[in-house]
Amino acid sequence: MVGAEIGTISRVFYNRLFRAVPSLRDTFNRTNQANGAQQRALADSVAAFASLLVTHAPTDIDPIMERIAAKHASLGVQAAHYGIVRTHLFAAIAEVLGDAITPQVAVAWHEVYTLMANSLVEQETELYRRAGVAPGDIWRRVVVTEHEYDGAHAATFHLRSVDGRPLPAFLPGQYISVRVALPDGSEQIRQYTVFPGRTSGEWAVTVKRVPGGLVSPVLCDGLGVDDHLLVSPPFGSVVDRGSEPLLLASAGVGVTMTIAALRDMQSRGDGRSVDVVHVDRTPYEQPHRTELAILVDSLPDARLHVRYTEYDEIRSDGRTPLSGLTIPGDARTYVCGPITFMRAIRSDLVASGVSPGSIHFEAFAPGSWFGLEAPPVSVD
Ligand SMILES: Cc1cc2nc3c(=O)[nH]c(=O)nc-3n(C[C@H](O)[C@H](O)[C@H](O)COP(=O)(O)OP(=O)(O)OC[C@H]3O[C@@H](n4cnc5c(N)ncnc54)[C@H](O)[C@@H]3O)c2cc1C
Ligand code: HEM
Repeated sequence: MVGAEIGTISRVFYNRLFRAVPSLRDTFNRTNQANGAQQRALADSVAAFASLLVTHAPTDIDPIMERIAAKHASLGVQAAHYGIVRTHLFAAIAEVLGDAITPQVAVAWHEVYTLMANSLVEQETELYRRAGVAPGDIWRRVVVTEHEYDGAHAATFHLRSVDGRPLPAFLPGQYISVRVALPDGSEQIRQYTVFPGRTSGEWAVTVKRVPGGLVSPVLCDGLGVDDHLLVSPPFGSVVDRGSEPLLLASAGVGVTMTIAALRDMQSRGDGRSVDVVHVDRTPYEQPHRTELAILVDSLPDARLHVRYTEYDEIRSDGRTPLSGLTIPGDARTYVCGPITFMRAIRSDLVASGVSPGSIHFEAFAPGSWFGLEAPPVSVD
């Protein structure tokens, strides 16, 4: 019953939460609020967790919880927030379901919430500890040392700490949050994959200008050399450094994850087999086009497969992004791009015998990895 109404419940919940704590509006992505993506992500994660408790189904909840904890840490979520969220979430459940919610059902959902919150707080505490910051105290000021246009719609920014000390180390595939003041005086936070800057202790990020977006146009059009920016430590999952063959598949600005992984392999002299698949609309629009080719050339056992097409049409001519490639069964796969692209890659890989568990997705929209990694099971 709560499962079926969770979309409405989340809408009521966020309205209540923002009325009670207006400052949290800036922490949540306003666009994802407006289009319902965040409400769906919350609902899907709670449904997946609850179904696990109810049915003991073999849903692997750990990767889901790890992703949520990393995202929360990158936003500065603190243990005290969980109490505030609990109050307004359960008030929303009572408002939407009224008398239909029996005391037993209410107790069951409190239990689900408590278990998820405890697990998330524990993981987030550990992430803050490893990042060397107090819980929630994530923002540091960096200065832009270089700014270059990259492809038709993207810009790469090189970042150095304002105090001159090296920025924290990061692992390939991790992202930082960037906190930006908008023209109306509010603030918004977005995540960008981090890769090495020109010198050690510096970071770089590439931002695609999304037309109509709140933050990326502010960065691409307004941020220049010597400007300051608030950023978080690096968080998020990592491209593994094992010896199995790698498949790195990206579309558009998703190539930043591939660049981070290849730069890491190059710097460590890692000779593992790697196939790099990239899809873009045109060469003109492809960020890091030259660097991608140079990096692949520099590695002893690497191959580059680039295809130019609309992401939504990657199957229209019968060819898929992986056509003609032999993917070893033990390949570790990392996929970053729009949902249509990630779905196409996943179904090709599964059809060619790769275990779904070895495919890692990095999604730019909240929760869009649901249904790719661990399909949520619906609950009543
Ligand atoms: C872990 C992670 C890593 C990311 N790494 C990068 C990165 O390295 N470079 C980068 O440019 N972005 C990256 N993003 C996306 C970035 O965080 C923002 O979502 C993006 O910049 C759009 O923000 P906005 O405020 O301009 O648009 P919003 O106001 O948030 O809304 C724009 C809409 O466009 C969608 N959108 C997001 N990204 C794209 C895209 N690339 N193309 C088309 N539509 C898009 C959003 O889902 C939303 O519906 C990453 C996101 C995550 C979660
Ligand atoms: C048990 C409790 C909670 C659950 C199950 C939960 C679940 C989620 C999920 C699934 C996402 C999307 C992750 C992604 O794919 O990027 C998310 C993001 C987020 N969560 Fe939570 N969350 C909980 C508690 C909280 C609390 C206490 C806060 C603090 C106010 C919070 C703030 C946020 C924010 C700001 C985002 C990012 C929103 C966006 O980018 O649109 N969450 N959470």
